[in-house]
Amino acid sequence: MKSLPPIFSFVVVLFAGSAQAQDPVARGQALVAQFCGRCHAIGVKGKSRHADAPAFRTFGRSIDLDEFPRTLERGISGGHPDMPEFKFSHDDALAVRAYLRVIQQ
Ligand code: HEC
Repeated sequence: MKSLPPIFSFVVVLFAGSAQAQDPVARGQALVAQFCGRCHAIGVKGKSRHADAPAFRTFGRSIDLDEFPRTLERGISGGHPDMPEFKFSHDDALAVRAYLRVIQQ
């Protein structure tokens, strides 16, 4: 059997790279890890580092996740001095919600 010309492996690498960048769940996870994880528990397990910050996996109980991306785009602040204000782009807001949906309990 002949081996594939090098151009094919190049295409495969490009495709794998873009698929990963566009996976909203992975992107949402990276965003909350970067911006929210120092206070909120963002995984399916574990305690929040900030005692008053609710775990993201229980947000579905108190927050309408359908509306949540709009809140993120407008700018979210917990109404609490400990929580800074964050604003997300439309795509990032949808990615965060996609991730939140995956971890809800
Ligand atoms: C510096 C710590 C800190 C960071 C960083 C932080 N939060 Fe918070 N967050 C809190 C605290 C503390 C509360 C509880 C506020 C209260 O009870 O008034 C809270 C509350 C919330 C609430 C309200 C939850 C509810 O059930 O009503 C949401 C939604 C929220 N945070 C989302 C986020 C998101 C999304 C991020 C990242 C973009 C984030 N937070 C980053 C500390 C933080």
